[in-house]
Amino acid sequence: MGEAGDAFRLGQVLLSRDEIKRRVSEIAGEIEREYRGRELIVVGILKGASIFMADLVRCVGDSVDVRMDYMAVSSYGDASTSSGVVKIVKDMDTFAEDRNVIIVEDIMDTGLTLYYLRDIIMGRNPESFKTCVLLEKPDRKKIESEIDYRGFVIPDEFVVGYGLDYAGKWRHLPDIWRVVKE
Ligand code: IMP
Repeated sequence: MGEAGDAFRLGQVLLSRDEIKRRVSEIAGEIEREYRGRELIVVGILKGASIFMADLVRCVGDSVDVRMDYMAVSSYGDASTSSGVVKIVKDMDTFAEDRNVIIVEDIMDTGLTLYYLRDIIMGRNPESFKTCVLLEKPDRKKIESEIDYRGFVIPDEFVVGYGLDYAGKWRHLPDIWRVVKE
């Protein structure tokens, strides 16, 4: 996002911590109903999904046998445009074969990251595979990649907070903010 040398600052809050909290607990309820009595591997995509995932799993009750795992990916190309080729920087530790897997992602922008992750995990023959994405920017979609659990649909604006960053900044903010150019 932006040209080198541009400065950015926080604009307005797009989604407040209370709105996020309500929606996260609704999604956790859906997951709980679907996986009750079963084992579920929840795989967070680092670093952006770390805060969302931490809140999400704590809202899923003990009727689901939740296991937590993580993957880190980087997309080739510059920081702002997904090239569509995803490199695994850190793989999940759990074997996905014959397990129920949910990938947890912070935001779907072009859809390329999720598309490639689906491909990679499906190649490992899981029992089931679903995707859980906090934010979807439909205007930017380049490729159809199904979202099973969706937090919010947002306009095509750059956002930070609640795990999302701009150049490493602002992940720790409890609300989700629009970023504006100074
Ligand atoms: P996709 O492959 O284009 O769907 O890229 C998704 C990734 O782009 C996310 O996991 C984020 O790391 C990054 N991203 C896209 N839009 C935003 C945004 O508005 N704020 C922060 N990161 C974003």
